[in-house]
Amino acid sequence: MVANRLPLHRTGTGSDGSWRASAGGLVTALEPILRSTPGAWVGWTGAPDDRTEPFVHDGIEVRPVPLSRVEVEHYYHGMSNRTFWPLYHDAIVSPEFHRTWWGSYLEVNQRFAAEAAAAAAPGDLVWVHDYHLQLVPQLLRARRPDVRIGFFLHIPFPPQELFEWLPWREEILRGLLGADLIGFQTAAAARNFAQLCRHHRLASGSADALEHDGRTVRAQAFPISIDFDWFDTAARKPETLARAEEIRRLVGPERRILLSVDRLDYTKGIDRRIEAFGELLARRLASVEDCVFLQIAAPSREAVHEYKHLRRQIDGIVGSVNGTYSTPGRIAVQYFRRNLTRAEILPYYCAADVMLVTPLRDGMNLVAKEYVACRTNGDGVLVLSEFAGAAQEMRQAIQVNPRDLDRMTESFASALTMDPAEAKRRMSGLRRTVRRRDVHAWSKSFFDVLRGGADGGGGTAEPTGSDIGEDDLTDEAD
Ligand code: ADP
Ligand code: F6P
Repeated sequence: MVANRLPLHRTGTGSDGSWRASAGGLVTALEPILRSTPGAWVGWTGAPDDRTEPFVHDGIEVRPVPLSRVEVEHYYHGMSNRTFWPLYHDAIVSPEFHRTWWGSYLEVNQRFAAEAAAAAAPGDLVWVHDYHLQLVPQLLRARRPDVRIGFFLHIPFPPQELFEWLPWREEILRGLLGADLIGFQTAAAARNFAQLCRHHRLASGSADALEHDGRTVRAQAFPISIDFDWFDTAARKPETLARAEEIRRLVGPERRILLSVDRLDYTKGIDRRIEAFGELLARRLASVEDCVFLQIAAPSREAVHEYKHLRRQIDGIVGSVNGTYSTPGRIAVQYFRRNLTRAEILPYYCAADVMLVTPLRDGMNLVAKEYVACRTNGDGVLVLSEFAGAAQEMRQAIQVNPRDLDRMTESFASALTMDPAEAKRRMSGLRRTVRRRDVHAWSKSFFDVLRGGADGGGGTAEPTGSDIGEDDLTDEAD
């Protein structure tokens, strides 16, 4: 596995500072796979100038790639998080384009490719992840033509009219085409990629068989998931249930709990969601006596201006809603801005009557799947943005347009008042889907196609068997 982020990160500088588990969908998905499959994880420790030697963490061989302070600024904060991240998320904020950032991106991608080449045995499978490392497939192929190379993009891949903004668009397409298999969260993303390759005359053919440089490259949808059984088992543990009970007691046992759990990112729609909750109270569709909204948000990319701004903005919105609606002992929005351990998050999922997952754009959103996996009683209601990749599979959620404040507010009210039998029917369908399509099925289907075993003619090699329509995952337009 080659990914910018390792399963744990350092909090300080250089080789000082303690280790903490990393938040984010990529780590949540990849960790269980590497625990059950022998292999190494090549990535950055999260601290500048850190020269930590390879080590073993929880059975996983970790091979750190060092980044200098300037590289962290240009490659990670710059090119990755101020160019690709906003560009690939519908340009929610304006992406920036700087040649110095691009130079650094190129250099760091070379370093990751060299480390991956050193880590791989002859004939190995190398799986490269996410937008930080889009040049690695091509660079690795040049060094190690003997390995099979897979790439997976955890975030959306934009349509042509947005991607074309990128001054280095052909370099990125060529970089990705170095892979044998390119996985996307949705069939639409795979189609966007194939269309761009044809448009720039870098490849011919359809997404599932792009002819490039004398090779066949396959671009296909593999909707990522979670380790369902792990969450399901952990959510049944007495200590999890006891803590969930305690949370309910602390907020007021008669109050229904609405919950959100996100990285503090402008793509997640946290501001609009809290505003909608405020409207819910303003329109008297609910009151602080009968409900409370808990927002847990992990600080993220805090050196980047847009994230600093977001943090201040959310502080303000929470203050405004609480100032207007809270009463003694009845705080409207309880906001926890911190990174929690998984053991700390689980009881919140178990305690919450309603889960609000309302990103403006999201590659998949694993939080939605984690909530469903923790609802072992089969109750609870999920409100889910149409603009999360998860919306394609999780059809029984109440789906919302997060930019439509009126309807989003009303959907929160519907979730709070949903008939319990209807809620159970929906949750049972959601659990069936997430259980069948868990992270092990995801990685197996990817590896099967990468090894050349499965024909992969549809959007996913794994039988769906759930209530999602096949149309949602197949690449019909190609
Ligand atoms: P993204 O990859 O954009 O962060 P996902 O929803 O796919 O979004 O994944 C987020 C992951 O990070 C989930 O596994 C979730 O449990 C975890 N997470 C979210 N918020 C926190 C938090 N405050 N503390 C620790 N982990 C968090
Ligand atoms: O899942 C998308 C993603 O960007 C991952 O690539 C990343 O690890 C995660 O979100 C968290 O972001 P970061 O690694 O920048 O802290």
